[in-house]
Amino acid sequence: MRALICRQFGPPSSLRVEDVPAPLPKAGEVIVAVEAAGVNFPDLLMIEGKYQRIPPFPFAPGCEAAGTIKRLGAGVIGWNVGDRVMTFVGHDTFAEEVAVDATQLSKLPGTFDAITGAAFMLTYGTALHGLADRGNLQSGETLLVLGAAGGVGSAAIEVGKVFGARVIAAASSDEKLAFCKSIGADETINYSREDFRERVKQLTGGRGVDVAFDPVGGSLAEPTVRAMARGGRYLVVGFAQGEIPKIPLNLPLLKNCAIVGVTWGSFVLNGDPGAEHHLRQLAALAAEGRLNPRVTKVYGLNEAAQALDDMAQRRVTGKVVIDLSR
Ligand SMILES: NC(=O)c1ccc[n+]([C@@H]2O[C@H](COP(=O)([O-])OP(=O)(O)OC[C@H]3O[C@@H](n4cnc5c(N)ncnc54)[C@H](OP(=O)(O)O)[C@@H]3O)[C@@H](O)[C@H]2O)c1
Repeated sequence: MRALICRQFGPPSSLRVEDVPAPLPKAGEVIVAVEAAGVNFPDLLMIEGKYQRIPPFPFAPGCEAAGTIKRLGAGVIGWNVGDRVMTFVGHDTFAEEVAVDATQLSKLPGTFDAITGAAFMLTYGTALHGLADRGNLQSGETLLVLGAAGGVGSAAIEVGKVFGARVIAAASSDEKLAFCKSIGADETINYSREDFRERVKQLTGGRGVDVAFDPVGGSLAEPTVRAMARGGRYLVVGFAQGEIPKIPLNLPLLKNCAIVGVTWGSFVLNGDPGAEHHLRQLAALAAEGRLNPRVTKVYGLNEAAQALDDMAQRRVTGKVVIDLSR
């Protein structure tokens, strides 16, 4: 089978599409014929050796996919060859076939094609777990989303609106912010050219934001904590800027606010029953048209390294997907 293979840590340009043996299912696993695979920032961190979970070499990047079950391993019950599924598997989905623990399969909703299914689980799952379980976001509260035009950022805008929050989207260009507005953001901040804290003050009447969803980190983290309202919740989602920020602990004390970590991957891979419930809730919202996965570009497997490089260079808006049929 064809797969995008990582044999040593490096940038996307070091990856090659190779013919490699197809995986065989261990007990409890199924083989999924991958139709489409979502592209996410953790894929980039994994090939560069910067992610918390690193698979042994060689591996294929790609942590989520949609496709059709091709083979069942021993002891798998409840699934059949031919079932259309979506899955979060951690790595190896930029490939024509992937082995998946059957507990990590979800039925592909009838309203989804494979491209939509591949663009759904990680970003919306992270947004819902972050905003509901970790952020306790309430209707009428103000939510600030950083990196708001990216994958998890754009999902957080949509989920925030479902919760009835007033959403302030922050991103690096007017073009990205126009995209954020088009998917529901109420207000915008261009952090490349506006005074970030002044603009938050202006937009909140000096009160600050109730919840901040931050997948960017770096130099934006401390100004964001300083922009929290009393009783606010600052959600640590990721560090796309590259630097893990260090926050002076007098800030949460003075603000009476919380700094809260969010990790959707372990929530799901540890088998938390809440994860399956969330997925059903998200699929129902998508079926009602209240969530709309924003796939802005589809690449073939031969262009998958380019997709990762586009993400590294901040050229991606919304979500991008690899179509394995190309
Ligand atoms: N905690 C969790 O469970 C979880 C789950 C999924 C992802 N994440 C993390 O969340 C972050 C975003 O993931 P994603 O898949 O949404 O990525 P993405 O689509 O590439 O979005 C990341 C955004 O970060 C901003 N950014 C700022 N500086 C950047 C830089 N130097 N390089 C790249 N982007 C930069 C970009 O927006 P601007 O250009 O507008 O600044 C970009 O749109 C990553 O750190 C990822 O590891 C965490």
